[in-house]
Amino acid sequence: MQDNYEALNSPFSIGKVQVKNRFVMAPTTTGAYLAPDGSFSKEGIEYFVRRAQGGMGLVQTGALMTDYKIDEPGALGPSFMATPASRHAFAVSSAALLARLEAYGAKMFIQISAGLGRNSVGSYGPSANPYFGTTDKMNPVLTTEDVREKIKMMVDAARVVQQAGYPGVELHAIHWGYLLDQMASSLTNRRTDEYGGDLRGRMRMCTQIVQGIKESCGDDFAVSVRLGLKAYVRGFNQGSIDGEGEAYRTLEEGVQICRILEEAGVDALDVDTGTYDSFYYACPPTYVRRGYMEELARAAKEAVDIPVICGSRMGDVDADERCIEEGAFDAIAIGRPMLADPDLPKKIAIGRPDKIRPCIACNQGCLLRLFQGLPSGCAVNPLVGRDKDYAPTPALARKSVVVVGGGVAGMEAARTCAMRGHRVTLLEKSDDLGGHLISGGAHDFKGEVRELNLWYQGELEDWGVDVRMGVEATPELVDGLAPDAVILANGSSAVMPPIPGIDHPKTLGCIDALLHEERVGQRVVVVGGGLVGCEISLDLVNKGHDVTIVEALPSILSSGPAVPLPNAMYLRDAFAHHGTPILTSTRISSVTDAGAVVQGPDGVRTLPADTVVIAVGFRPNPSLAPSLRGHGYEVFEIGDERQVGNILTAIWDAYEVAHTI
Ligand SMILES: Cc1cc2nc3c(=O)[nH]c(=O)nc-3n(C[C@H](O)[C@H](O)[C@H](O)COP(=O)(O)O)c2cc1C
Ligand code: SF4
Repeated sequence: MQDNYEALNSPFSIGKVQVKNRFVMAPTTTGAYLAPDGSFSKEGIEYFVRRAQGGMGLVQTGALMTDYKIDEPGALGPSFMATPASRHAFAVSSAALLARLEAYGAKMFIQISAGLGRNSVGSYGPSANPYFGTTDKMNPVLTTEDVREKIKMMVDAARVVQQAGYPGVELHAIHWGYLLDQMASSLTNRRTDEYGGDLRGRMRMCTQIVQGIKESCGDDFAVSVRLGLKAYVRGFNQGSIDGEGEAYRTLEEGVQICRILEEAGVDALDVDTGTYDSFYYACPPTYVRRGYMEELARAAKEAVDIPVICGSRMGDVDADERCIEEGAFDAIAIGRPMLADPDLPKKIAIGRPDKIRPCIACNQGCLLRLFQGLPSGCAVNPLVGRDKDYAPTPALARKSVVVVGGGVAGMEAARTCAMRGHRVTLLEKSDDLGGHLISGGAHDFKGEVRELNLWYQGELEDWGVDVRMGVEATPELVDGLAPDAVILANGSSAVMPPIPGIDHPKTLGCIDALLHEERVGQRVVVVGGGLVGCEISLDLVNKGHDVTIVEALPSILSSGPAVPLPNAMYLRDAFAHHGTPILTSTRISSVTDAGAVVQGPDGVRTLPADTVVIAVGFRPNPSLAPSLRGHGYEVFEIGDERQVGNILTAIWDAYEVAHTI
């Protein structure tokens, strides 16, 4: 690790706009920062200001819709351009926002969207294509006049943005399969007018928007474009995990698009990958390697002279520094990691990247919530979107707080209480902090979960938490510490069903399988196709084991907390890619010397196995709460001890309780 990230901390320019460092906020819609009247909400302003305080050089909004005439309002809500009043509200709130951002030397672009196309029911597309997630419902088609109208609405929006005081816009987007992306691809654009045909024809809508903005706003007003360099798509609703069989955008075509955009006058390219059809390359879960974008961005940079901003699973700070030094790309776009830790750029600037709270690429708090129609947040940072109102405040009176359990919920509770000024003692009965973060971080692809565990341990030390390891909490011990409040975070244990052979040497609980890889044989039956079972299976398949998944329900990933779409799509496609057998509606009956005896739609059969991994869920550990009642202090139960959940529910639970004690 270096201590002086000179390249990342050096300025660069997008057209005439100078950015103080190489950190660009990847557009990340939270679903809550723009109010229905077109203004930035109070929470929205705080959200952006918080990221500027954290050292972000170029702050960007997520996509703001410009079309108020053709598409039905979709998931991103109505357009800020809809009425003179909404434009005015946008401008007034922008003045307040920009004045605050300036104090931190941050610049801000607005991301303006031409439309969502087949990604959102009710939106128009270049040709009739099935909406994402359906095969029979087709999007209506834009007429030539409609396309011209949409171009005009984008240009008008850029002018409104400029008049509100912003130095530039980012065009949304030739990525994720949105309208301009569909326009650019021969799979989705089969038009015969001037906006179809060869690549230049398919790019015409975008290049006319760029030229229109430059004519209307002048050359000094910066225009960047969000561009997916490679789609990883085989067809509608079909991703390509290895990039083979590409039917949408190859890297070669992506590079040609870079050249066309540069010729059209674009000032910067903000590059990533994927569409909804290959969601795991659009919003990559932890299974996709951090830094996978490097070689793609290099190819773009070699083709153009304008700055290339590289985004998606960035944040390996040493690699990012090296790439910028080498000229592989000019800046990094940081999306989810800026939700997890808004101080990321600042911590790099002061040479302490080890203090960055890592994004674990789980998609639980951000994308999943957005798709559920909730304001997006972050699993590891409960403050996102309520950055000011929900922030920790100093405690009025210093209390003595005892936390029982050093898993993620206990560590979050201890950290928050200690930060607020309480005297905190944390009791952990094992010799290690982390709880399920230890087993849950054991897969090769869970590096950030391991980092999160280390980060919490560093925080406990920094905030002076009295951590007592190897200490089992009893009512007497807790009473002896004379607490004002006790937080119980005793976690959960894996369920082992009472079947014949559950004690067979071949049988391993999921935690043992994760922690003792050496005990897992070549042929493995994983019982339980929930997230835990599927992630164990993926890790084993990646390492060359022969895995069969047995799931009692009719499909995998259908029990427990909802699994975000990119994660679920990756797991399913990875198993299909590797030919991993998945037996659904099938139950384990017993484990024998031969393997796993299962009962399914085809009757009873034995699946030969060297190891049978049981991953059928967790149950809360016994609680001390009943024996602490009436002892003169408050008692809280949090995390899995209260209700089995995931990292998000554990951290959010803990913070909620700890920030009010
Ligand atoms: C909740 C959420 C909302 C997003 N909204 C937008 C958006 O409005 N416009 C856009 O271009 N990308 C959007 N993205 C994509 C991000 O900009 C980024 O490409 C993606 O999160 C992967 O990069 P990361 O690993 O840095 O997060 C969104 C991503 C998330 C998770
Ligand atoms: S919810 Fe998960 S993926 Fe999303 S920002 Fe937070 S840690 Fe990252």
